[in-house]
Amino acid sequence: MWIGGKWREAKTYEPLYSPHTNEFLSDIGQAEPADAIEAIVEANAAFQKFRNYPAHARAKILAKVADILEERSLECAEIMALEGAKSIRNAREEINRTVQTYRFAAEAAKSNYGEQIPMDAAEGGENRFGFTIRTPIGVVTAITPFNFPFNLVAHKVGPAIAAGNAIVLKPAEQTPISSLFLAEAFKEAGLPDGVLNIIPGKGDVLSEALTTHPYVKKVTFTGSVEVGHIIQQQAGFRKLTLELGSNSPFIIDEGVDIDQLIERSVMGAFSYNGQVCISIQRIYVHQSLYGEFLERFVSRTKQLVIGSPLDEKTNITSVISKKSLDRLQSWINEAVQEGAKIECGGTVVGNVLVPTVLTNVNRDSKVSRFEVFGPVVCIAPFDTLDNAIAEANDSRYGLNSGIITPSIERAFYAATRLETGGVIVNDIPTYRIDNMPYGGWKDSGVGREGVKYAMREMMEEKFISLKFSDNN
Ligand code: SIN
Repeated sequence: MWIGGKWREAKTYEPLYSPHTNEFLSDIGQAEPADAIEAIVEANAAFQKFRNYPAHARAKILAKVADILEERSLECAEIMALEGAKSIRNAREEINRTVQTYRFAAEAAKSNYGEQIPMDAAEGGENRFGFTIRTPIGVVTAITPFNFPFNLVAHKVGPAIAAGNAIVLKPAEQTPISSLFLAEAFKEAGLPDGVLNIIPGKGDVLSEALTTHPYVKKVTFTGSVEVGHIIQQQAGFRKLTLELGSNSPFIIDEGVDIDQLIERSVMGAFSYNGQVCISIQRIYVHQSLYGEFLERFVSRTKQLVIGSPLDEKTNITSVISKKSLDRLQSWINEAVQEGAKIECGGTVVGNVLVPTVLTNVNRDSKVSRFEVFGPVVCIAPFDTLDNAIAEANDSRYGLNSGIITPSIERAFYAATRLETGGVIVNDIPTYRIDNMPYGGWKDSGVGREGVKYAMREMMEEKFISLKFSDNN
């Protein structure tokens, strides 16, 4: 555990194994609630000084961390391949994004603007000057998922430090090494002790301390809807960001050139084995293109290379756990019983679920209704754009949606009606750059990430009014 700028021994350790090979990787300290409280107390003490650190100094630390990660990017990618079974190509992409996220955070630290209020817009506001300032909130606790163990951590740690806060991070159980790696990077970059604390361990053991301690002013969580609800109840009136996944829809309108989108669509459905919150889960194809699209999509999916995460050629590897594999298989079996047809995949090799394409899926089957978070995609035809939009919106989630269409009118028509936090026009919903606002409607969550947006949610906004006399 990394607490107060030092490594601390945990009372108990648990072995961590590679999800792909089952090889032993390391023993991981398991923080207990008392450790979480100690980390929070250390963070609060560090915050009292760090809140006054100038923006240029915070920016310099973040930029230096970005440089360190860039220099050591191969090592970071290998950590992700080993502990998360992320293909080495996907892992390299992630670390490049992580470097950029910390660079965005360095810039955001220096661009923390308030707003001037036109006080004389209301009677009684004459001879007053009004403005807002944003001040750091205090101790932030962050609970992060396994699927982007460097970049989704950066989306919480980067803005917290840019804002002048202190942070306690609880990384995902399966991918703690990626987070622990950060401890020394931040130390080397000159971050004062106690500003960043990292406590590996189990979410159900630690979440209460992390969400209810009086020093904690902001909780930020990325993970499942079910855990998000628990955290929301625990956190009460604290500021809260929840990023809770989706079953992202992708609409392929009539008149588009299929050649341009097979590769992108397959990538959007199966990148990191579909374990991405904005993976394409439901594809709605205009009926005029459905047959051709399906055939070519299935044929490209069958060519995906299954293999070791460390092999450069690999596209598909093991899903994160046996539990996840069992759930995916049971959802597929259930969908088949409810009428679905398996166009390809559906089988298991080792811990790998072979990429699975389903058609004729009952809308109430779990593979369609819930977040599948695995290499499974459902494809269906549509007749009118209104029907496609209605299908896309018939979901408890609303993170990103995508529509590809040759018509600007239909693009705007759909974009203004799709009930998602982001609408990606002329590309797949599995699109994110790290400075764009990112977050969901409905059960997909609360609040926004994307460095500048996350930083705002980690600050308190204060209004200041100054009255002056007009007869000087
Ligand atoms: C997520 O899975 O929520 C993150 C997706 C991304 O950053 O690309």
